[in-house]
Amino acid sequence: MRKKIVAGNWKMNTTLQEGIALANDLKNALAGKTPKCDVVVCTPYISVAAVAETVKGSVIGVGAEDCSANEKGAFTGEVSASMVASTGAKYCILGHSERRQYHGEDNALLIKKLNLALANGLTPIFCVGEVKEEREANTFKSVIEGQMAAVYTLSAADFAKVVIAYEPVWAIGTGLTATSAQAQEVHASIRASIAAKYDKATAENTSILYGGSCKGSNAPELFAQPDIDGGLIGGAALKAADFMQIIEAWK
Ligand code: PGA
Repeated sequence: MRKKIVAGNWKMNTTLQEGIALANDLKNALAGKTPKCDVVVCTPYISVAAVAETVKGSVIGVGAEDCSANEKGAFTGEVSASMVASTGAKYCILGHSERRQYHGEDNALLIKKLNLALANGLTPIFCVGEVKEEREANTFKSVIEGQMAAVYTLSAADFAKVVIAYEPVWAIGTGLTATSAQAQEVHASIRASIAAKYDKATAENTSILYGGSCKGSNAPELFAQPDIDGGLIGGAALKAADFMQIIEAWK
């Protein structure tokens, strides 16, 4: 059975101290509770290790927001997948639309990152999604299929370790959410595409998260869709109480 997951993406919003405080708030909010989903926080590199230490022993999993496409060496400013894993982190967001947009990340680069993340035991949270013009031109399904081609280079065994996140770029940080029907349509088409590429069991076992202005008020309806297995949360992951509302949307 595929996992239900609520994952936070803190982006570039938290200092080290703010990150530790947020992790502590979330840990305290979850104390004594048994969430009906896996809970993950992906933090800036600067706080991954401290957050991993802060939440040790809790149900919270930790991840980075990216990793280098290179294994090791003279890559000033980069952080490798093995360095991320060395903190105790278990996840790594890859291919977020902000990386694609501002850093020109393409499939060739993302294939390298995927392989390094997997080789270091990290679960990639691989993001796909169309921009507004592609939604309007009704080309979004082929755009997403083109982005999925990067993960489709993986063996079935490796693909089984990947979490997919569908994030329509026009809904990220804009307050515009895809309707639950729009999101469900894309999630179902991604799942059908995975079944065609691998097999039905692989598709059924893949967690596909929705991201883009997901919050406590719309999470229940989104998560009620048959092919939506959770959320990748930006803005609403920056306050423990807001993030808890989304976690608790899984009843
Ligand atoms: P948002 O961001 O929830 O602030 O829209 C989601 C994301 O970009 O992962």
